[in-house]
Amino acid sequence: MKKSSLFFVLLCLFQISKLGFCLAGSVHTANNNGDKRHGFIRVTNFGAVGDGKTDDTQAFLKAWEAVCNGGSNNTTLLVPLGKIFMLKPLKFAGPCKSSSVTFLVRGNLVAPGYTWDMGNSPAWISFDRINGLVVIGGGVKGGGTLDSRGSVWWGSGHAQDRPTAMHFNNCNGLRIYNLQHLNSPRNHISLSGSKNISVSGLKLTAPGDSPNTDGIDISNCIGVDIRDSVISTGDDCIAINTGSSYINITGLFCGPGHGISVGSLGKAGAFATVEEVRVKNCTLTNTTNGVRIKTYQNGLGYARKISFEDIKMVDSQNPIIIEQNYINRGKIEEVGFEYSNYQNRGSKNRFYKTESGNGRGVKVSDVRYSRIYGTSASDDAVTFNCNADLGCDNIVMDHVNIVSAKAGQVVSASCNNVHGSYLNSPVSCIKK
Ligand SMILES: *[C@@H]1O[C@H](CO)[C@@H](O)[C@H](O)[C@H]1NC(C)=O
Ligand SMILES: *[C@@H]1O[C@H](CO)[C@@H](O)[C@H](O)[C@H]1NC(C)=O
Ligand SMILES: *[C@@H]1O[C@H](CO)[C@@H](O)[C@H](O)[C@H]1NC(C)=O
Ligand SMILES: *[C@@H]1O[C@H](CO)[C@@H](O)[C@H](O)[C@H]1NC(C)=O
Ligand SMILES: *[C@@H]1O[C@H](CO)[C@@H](O)[C@H](O)[C@H]1NC(C)=O
Ligand SMILES: *[C@@H]1O[C@H](CO)[C@@H](O)[C@H](O)[C@H]1NC(C)=O
Repeated sequence: MKKSSLFFVLLCLFQISKLGFCLAGSVHTANNNGDKRHGFIRVTNFGAVGDGKTDDTQAFLKAWEAVCNGGSNNTTLLVPLGKIFMLKPLKFAGPCKSSSVTFLVRGNLVAPGYTWDMGNSPAWISFDRINGLVVIGGGVKGGGTLDSRGSVWWGSGHAQDRPTAMHFNNCNGLRIYNLQHLNSPRNHISLSGSKNISVSGLKLTAPGDSPNTDGIDISNCIGVDIRDSVISTGDDCIAINTGSSYINITGLFCGPGHGISVGSLGKAGAFATVEEVRVKNCTLTNTTNGVRIKTYQNGLGYARKISFEDIKMVDSQNPIIIEQNYINRGKIEEVGFEYSNYQNRGSKNRFYKTESGNGRGVKVSDVRYSRIYGTSASDDAVTFNCNADLGCDNIVMDHVNIVSAKAGQVVSASCNNVHGSYLNSPVSCIKK
């Protein structure tokens, strides 16, 4: 074995909750025997050039086929270090033969830098129906960066059709580690229709004023653990949407951005559910919201069993907020027929507008705020705007101690229709 032909990669991540894993492997630079022995499929062996100019899309798809169909011998798609690969929108589709496949991103991946027809490709890179997928980036040492070049989509002309950068759908057992990702057109990462996901060491970055550039969007996922990551973007750091439960977020640095959000839930009257969410040990800096639960007033369903613990706010505009009466742009939302209380009045009349106070709404209950501290950029440290009919139930504030970022200013809580208890909280809904 030639010494010069060998360098060693040791990626060992242990104690990443009980779902931790450890991967060790060696990568040969000069010959393919080592690649074969260790199950590496190099994109450059399938025609990828990586010169920052050539379109490498087809080569990546061919290499993916080899990994996905390769069975237990070929389980890692390797994007080699020191190269820049240009990719058009593409989809890595499963199911794959092996119960686990790895996408090892050591080189950089760059998006087209022009807009495309989203009808054909709603995401730059899609991963679909791949169980046991592990995506590993280069981490902070450089390499393994995705540049989505989203700025071409950020103008108002594209307000309705910005694509997600990376979309993982139906990927049970997904792991994502140490990925750096810049400037998504829209969400940097969308997770949908999957169980048992673990994410750590992410760094997602976009300008604070870039539109819709959420960090991670979660919908219809059960069992997601996100930890030790830095998300600085123009929209929600993490948004937890309908169909999601057992979601843990720990050790996140968020900001600038819109904070950590449950919702919006119940758009156009939809039935939406989120439960069992734990957000712990996070720092939010210069965010427009801190920790938020937001539901449309005409929705149905619930957001419940949610806890926020040990959260540090630095200059957050609205550190703690529940909005249960959300109306998009001041308009009472139309309710899709399938969610309407009314009978179909014929094919033309499929939508009905409803007012608040009609018994609709997304129930919000069992929410705990423990040890939330730091500074608020506005005078409203806490805003609970709950619906008069439904109310918000069992909202517990325990050691909520947020002070004004401005010397001499006093912060307050604005509370409507909220029921719960207040323990050792200088900021609470109890009138002084
Ligand atoms: C694994 O990949 C190698 C190319 O690196 C290829 O020669 C071999 O046929 C693949 N194995 C399978 C089972 O597809
Ligand atoms: C996997 O590799 C081993 C050892 O090189 C070989 O004996 C076996 O046939 C390969 N299996 C497949 C499916 O390619
Ligand atoms: C979760 O995914 C990991 C990695 O794919 C797997 O080893 C584990 O068995 C899965 N756990 C459950 C409960 O599905
Ligand atoms: C807060 O974020 C905004 C928007 O990105 C930015 O313009 C401003 O400089 C930031 N302020 C601080 C103190 O970082
Ligand atoms: C979330 O955290 C709780 C408490 O530490 C733990 O019991 C649970 O297994 C975690 N869930 C996930 C999906 O990581
Ligand atoms: C909180 O998160 C930070 C950042 O990831 C980490 O360094 C620290 O160990 C965590 N603290 C606890 C008590 O988990």
